[in-house]
Amino acid sequence: MNSHPVLCEVIAHRIATSSQKRITFAEYMDMVLYHPEVGYYSTKAVNLGKKGDFFTSVHLGADFGELLAVQFFQMWEILEQPVPFSLVEMGAGQGLLALDLLKYIQQKYPGFLNALDYVIVEKSPVLRQEQQQRLQEFSVRWSNLEEIPSQSITGCFFSNELVDALPVHQFVLKQDQLQEIYVTTRGDEEDEEVGEVEGVGEDGEDGEVFSPPTPLTPPTPLVSFVEVADTPSTPKLVEYFDLVGVNISDYPEGYRSEVNLAALDWLSVVTDRLRRGYVLTIDYGYRASRYYNPSDRKVRYSVTTIINAIMTRILILGDKTSQLILILLLWNDGVSDAD
Ligand SMILES: C[S@@+](CC[C@H](N)C(=O)[O-])C[C@H]1O[C@@H](n2cnc3c(N)ncnc32)[C@H](O)[C@@H]1O
Repeated sequence: MNSHPVLCEVIAHRIATSSQKRITFAEYMDMVLYHPEVGYYSTKAVNLGKKGDFFTSVHLGADFGELLAVQFFQMWEILEQPVPFSLVEMGAGQGLLALDLLKYIQQKYPGFLNALDYVIVEKSPVLRQEQQQRLQEFSVRWSNLEEIPSQSITGCFFSNELVDALPVHQFVLKQDQLQEIYVTTRGDEEDEEVGEVEGVGEDGEDGEVFSPPTPLTPPTPLVSFVEVADTPSTPKLVEYFDLVGVNISDYPEGYRSEVNLAALDWLSVVTDRLRRGYVLTIDYGYRASRYYNPSDRKVRYSVTTIINAIMTRILILGDKTSQLILILLLWNDGVSDAD
């Protein structure tokens, strides 16, 4: 981020104007990725693909989309061929998956194409523009999730690598208490203090400077950020562990990880919009027991995350006519769940 002074300044301004002179890590991540003017996904800097910043299954060829097309056709048949059948793709990137899907459906299932209402929900204005250009030959509409009326969708909500791109809250265990990680600013002269534990100072907060292995940003002449740990911004952070059935009270001092509260919010909105049909989301992840492994002290500084198995509780959010298919592509890092 050192090379993005405007983004740094925007974040610093947000911190300076916030009531406690700090923002949650989730807000920080949201700004870095999605600030409407200077966030990664909002500028021309966004560079997806094999030679870009990262690539996904959709960049490896059309097979992925074609297999999904067969799956969606099957869903349409199971639901007794409703017209329209809405396919709501969330976080469609460059529109490549939509193109692969629609081309294959056009070729193999023309009846299904006629019934199809293809909707894209995309947060990035730059990517939305690219999608519109790429998908000109097909009937596709763009919408915000909030604009889709409750209980209005018969069909399928689907996404590939959306959930791991949602901003996460980070926490650390200190003296048996879960504390949230916040981001605040430091002047250059105080950069060396990163790593020490001390009071936040003149803002009167009793948070502590948390000691990350590396600072969030290297020192710059303009602004630098450090992390502080303090009481959670929301009780949902603690409640989350009941939801996923993980007891972190015995975890070691300094255990640090993250919680994807935005995924829960997203899921409840999606299930509210769905009248009849499916939610299919594809991502990387671990089961909660593995994800929150107490012996794993790794701190993740990536701006995208892996997700955990929040979906085990999805059925309490859905109604009886909805179904959920979750495909988690588990990372094979040589560590089994039992480890
Ligand atoms: C990691 S990219 C994946 C793109 C594409 N699905 C793929 O597989 O290549 C995440 C995508 O989700 C979008 N996104 C992130 N948060 C979103 C949200 N809340 N609503 C809609 N789109 C979102 C991003 O702009 C981006 O297009």
